[in-house]
Amino acid sequence: MSLTNYVLFVSIFFYVCNLKLAANDYPRRCEQSSGSISKAGIKNRAMQGHSFKNYTLSKPYDCHVKCFEERCKCQAYQMRQNRCELLDDDRISAPEDFLEEKEYTYYDMSREYVDHQVWTQSSLQNMPILLIVYESKEFGSVEKMCNLANLKAELPFEQGRANNNIITCAKKAKKQQPFINQCCNENPCANGGTCTELFEDAKNKFNCTCAVGYYGRFCQKRSATSCKEQLQKNGGNHSGVYELFDPANMSMYEVVCDAISEKGFVWTLIESFSFRNNDEFADKAFYEDFPVNQDAFSWNKFRLSLPLMNVTANRSTHVRATCNFNTEELRCSDYLRAKLTDIDVMRLRDFFGCKKYEFISVRGYNCTNCTSDFIQKDIWHAHIDSYYGGAQRGCQCTRISAGAVKLPTGEDNFGMYETVNTNHSCVSSDDSTTQWWFGVRY
Ligand SMILES: *[C@@H]1O[C@H](CO)[C@@H](O)[C@H](O)[C@H]1NC(C)=O
Ligand SMILES: *[C@@H]1O[C@H](CO)[C@@H](O)[C@H](O)[C@H]1NC(C)=O
Ligand SMILES: *[C@@H]1O[C@H](CO)[C@@H](O)[C@H](O)[C@H]1NC(C)=O
Ligand SMILES: *[C@@H]1O[C@H](CO)[C@@H](O)[C@H](O)[C@H]1NC(C)=O
Ligand SMILES: *[C@@H]1O[C@H](CO)[C@@H](O)[C@H](O)[C@H]1NC(C)=O
Ligand SMILES: *[C@@H]1O[C@H](CO)[C@@H](O)[C@H](O)[C@H]1NC(C)=O
Ligand SMILES: *[C@@H]1O[C@H](CO)[C@@H](O)[C@H](O)[C@H]1NC(C)=O
Ligand SMILES: *[C@@H]1O[C@H](CO)[C@@H](O)[C@H](O)[C@H]1NC(C)=O
Ligand SMILES: *[C@@H]1O[C@H](CO)[C@@H](O)[C@H](O)[C@H]1NC(C)=O
Repeated sequence: MSLTNYVLFVSIFFYVCNLKLAANDYPRRCEQSSGSISKAGIKNRAMQGHSFKNYTLSKPYDCHVKCFEERCKCQAYQMRQNRCELLDDDRISAPEDFLEEKEYTYYDMSREYVDHQVWTQSSLQNMPILLIVYESKEFGSVEKMCNLANLKAELPFEQGRANNNIITCAKKAKKQQPFINQCCNENPCANGGTCTELFEDAKNKFNCTCAVGYYGRFCQKRSATSCKEQLQKNGGNHSGVYELFDPANMSMYEVVCDAISEKGFVWTLIESFSFRNNDEFADKAFYEDFPVNQDAFSWNKFRLSLPLMNVTANRSTHVRATCNFNTEELRCSDYLRAKLTDIDVMRLRDFFGCKKYEFISVRGYNCTNCTSDFIQKDIWHAHIDSYYGGAQRGCQCTRISAGAVKLPTGEDNFGMYETVNTNHSCVSSDDSTTQWWFGVRY
C-alpha cells in the first residue's frame, strides 16, 4: 500500500501540546485526535441542547479541528450545511438527547493523551511511539504522514505545523506528575457546582459536583420540585417514590407521586402510617409540624414537614384519603376526596362539622357531591366519625352511619382511630395503612 493510500483510508491524527502551562512546573501533555479521513458522520441525527459554540465552516475536517482545540469541553460536533456546532456532550453519555434532525450530520470525537516531551530535534532518536500527522488532500490541505521510519524526512513539515499551534510530539514522559489542566479556571459547573480537574482521560478533563437539587454534567439541570414537574419530566403516567428538591431548604426529600390511580390527577403523598403506628399520628393535626422519614420513605410511617405540606397544598386543588394504597392501589370502598377550598386541612383548626366532599366512601357506603363529617383539632388528627357524623350531625351523607361502631366514642375513619371498625380497611389489621394526599389535575 502506498503511503498516500494509507493516509487516505486509515486515519487522521493530530496533536496539540498544552503550552500555556508553566513548562518548568508541570510536564506538558500532548493530545491526539484520530478519525477516519473519509469520516462519514451520522446523517440526520443531532445532539439537542448541547451546542456551546458555533462556527461557519464548510468542511467537517475544520470543525473537527475546532472541536479539538476546545480541549476542555468539546465532546463531539455536528454540522448543518455551513454551520459547525461544537457539543459539550456526545451520543454515548447523553443518548436521550441524540435525536433525529433533518439536514444535520453528527460526528463523534476522539481525544487521547500522548505522554511525551515536546518534540526537539535531539529527542527524535529512539521514539517509542508511532506518530502520524495527517491532513487530507480531500479537504484541500497538505497531505503528510510521518512515522518512526521516516520522521526525519518530514522534519520541515513538523516544524511548520508547530508554528501553527499543532505540534507533533514524541517520546513518552518518564514519570507522571500532578498536572493542572486549567479546565476549572472558568468554572464550567453551573448553579454553585464544584469543579474538579481530572487527568485520566483526555475527553473528561473535569467533573462537576453539583449543589443539592442540581444534576447533569454541568449541573445545568434542576431536580423537580413537585410531583407534577417530576412526572412531566418522564412522560406523565407514573407512580412511585421520587426524590424532589425543596428550594426553600436546599434539600431533597422523598415522596410518593401518583398519576395513575385517578385519571387526570397527580397526587402527592403527604402522610402514610400503619395502624400499628397510629399512636404517633393520632394527635397530630395537619397544621402541626411532624416530619417523619422525609429522607427514607416508608408507608408505615411518613409525613412531610409543615412547610413542605404547605407548599404542596398551595399548588394543589384537592385532598384525598386512601387505605392500603401500598398494597391495593386505589380502594374505592374506603376513600374520600374533596376540594381544598371546601376542606382546607392545613387551616381548619378545632373543627368538627359537615364539609363538602366530591366523593366519600366508608366500608362501601358512599355519597357523591355531598356533605359529610370532618373533624380536626389541635390534639386530633383529621378524620371523620362515621357513627356520629351522619344523620346525628345533620350532614347529607347519612349512609355512612350504616354498620358504624358506636362505642365508646363513635367509629373513627381515616385517622385518629380511637374507636375502630375492622371492616374499615385502613384498620383491618396492624399492618393496614392510611394515606393522605394533595392533588391537582394535569
Ligand atoms: C448554534 O446554532 C444552533 C442552531 O441555530 C442553535 O440552536 C444554538 O443555540 C447555537 N449555539 C450557540 C452557542 O450559539
Ligand atoms: C469527580 O472526580 C473526583 C476525582 O476522581 C471524584 O472523587 C469525584 O467523585 C467525581 N465527582 C463526580 C460528581 O463524578
Ligand atoms: C396515560 O396512559 C393512558 C393509557 O395507558 C393514556 O390513555 C393516557 O393518555 C396517558 N396519560 C398521559 C398524561 O400520558
Ligand atoms: C430541611 O432538611 C432537613 C434534612 O436535610 C430536614 O431534616 C428538615 O426537616 C427540612 N426542613 C424542612 C422545613 O423541610
Ligand atoms: C401554612 O401553614 C400555616 C400554619 O403554620 C397556615 O397558617 C398557612 O395558612 C399555611 N399555608 C398554606 C398555603 O396552606
Ligand atoms: C402560595 O402561592 C402563591 C402564588 O401562587 C404565593 O404568592 C404564596 O406565597 C404561596 N404561599 C405559600 C405558603 O407557599
Ligand atoms: C357505592 O355504593 C353503591 C351502593 O349504594 C355500591 O353499589 C357501589 O359499589 C359503591 N361504590 C363504591 C366505590 O364503593
Ligand atoms: C359532582 O359535581 C361535579 C361538579 O361539581 C359534576 O361534574 C359531577 O358530575 C357531579 N357528580 C355527580 C355524581 O353528581
Ligand atoms: C363487618 O362486616 C360484616 C359483614 O359485612 C359484619 O357481619 C360484621 O359485624 C362487621 N363487623 C363490624 C365490627 O361491624
